[in-house]
Amino acid sequence: MRVLGIETSCDETAVAVYDLERGLLGHALYSQVEVHAAYGGVVPELASRDHIRKTLPLARELFDRAGLSVSDLDGVAYTAGPGLIGALLVGASIARGLAWALGVPVVGVHHMEGHLLAPMLEPDPPAFPFLALLVSGGHTLLVQVRGVGRYRVLGESVDDAVGEAFDKTAKLLGLPYPGGPQLARLAEGGDPARFRFPRPMTDRPGLDFSFSGLKTFAVNTLRDAGRDAGDTPRNRADIARAFEEAVVDTLAIKCRRALRQSGLERLVVSGGVGANRRLRGRLAEVAEAEGGRAYFPRLEFCTDNGAMIAYAGAQRLAGGRHGTPQAIATARWSLDSLAPPGGGSAPARDDEPEP
Ligand code: KG4
Ligand code: ZN
Repeated sequence: MRVLGIETSCDETAVAVYDLERGLLGHALYSQVEVHAAYGGVVPELASRDHIRKTLPLARELFDRAGLSVSDLDGVAYTAGPGLIGALLVGASIARGLAWALGVPVVGVHHMEGHLLAPMLEPDPPAFPFLALLVSGGHTLLVQVRGVGRYRVLGESVDDAVGEAFDKTAKLLGLPYPGGPQLARLAEGGDPARFRFPRPMTDRPGLDFSFSGLKTFAVNTLRDAGRDAGDTPRNRADIARAFEEAVVDTLAIKCRRALRQSGLERLVVSGGVGANRRLRGRLAEVAEAEGGRAYFPRLEFCTDNGAMIAYAGAQRLAGGRHGTPQAIATARWSLDSLAPPGGGSAPARDDEPEP
């Protein structure tokens, strides 16, 4: 079975073809960074319009490069949520129109399920069960994973997602959008010992997170440091480093706790922030110290991509769960509500229209 995956949930247009026997046949991505940079963040309406312009030409380019034709497809998968509703609807419309014209099944994929399964595209994928830390621009989740579609959310952020905290803190440090990777770069030259940021919610039991306070802490630290010595590049680099240390430390503490509590040995780290070098290093150490191992997707499959959607869609289509004709897109969608391919007890939220 050969499945085209289409990802348009936010500011990246991405497509890929995954073959259940041969693996990933190709993938392509177009980033809207330049479209949104002038506004300092994603403008939903501009994102939708750009997805309309780019999705089909990108798919055509992918087919040409991989030596494929649309008639080679046995199914189409697209990101049905969570995400920006207008952007999601572009992918949904294209995927459903294409599937209808080709007479093949179509499935709406949960974006975070895509992230969660992304390490399966690597040569040495993790076996089930595992613990997944999903860290993206919209979500921070610790998930117990027993198989495809068998998820239990153990912890999540009560306020900002970790990627959002990176982006907001980067903005106040004067860095251009998208801030996360820029902040990580600035932190490289920072002194980790000069400032100490809090490790939110680590002093109490539980696996939830809170990251909105770190941004406020960064504002105050920047102001106080500027009062003493003026606003210097050094201050900003040291603050970036202290912020990154606090985030990495907090995530490491919670992952260690979740591994111990769940008895799981394998730790999967995915989502855009999973591309962070320091985070990858620390979590690999944590998993090893607990007698297990950490698994990461390659960097380009940590951030949004079409390969993870094609892979997740292929698993679902092979299992016989195609959704219903009403399944379109939903801006909010809980990972807990997913069911395994082909059945299970949890309701399929992809059948529900956006309220
Ligand atoms: O998964 P993703 O590409 O999109 C969403 O589903 O949200 O994640 C994007 C997030 C952004 O907040 C971005 O700043 C962050 O991931 N990010 C990073 C790094 N690369 C991307 N944050 C920290 N360090 C990085 N190297
Ligand atoms: Zn994502």
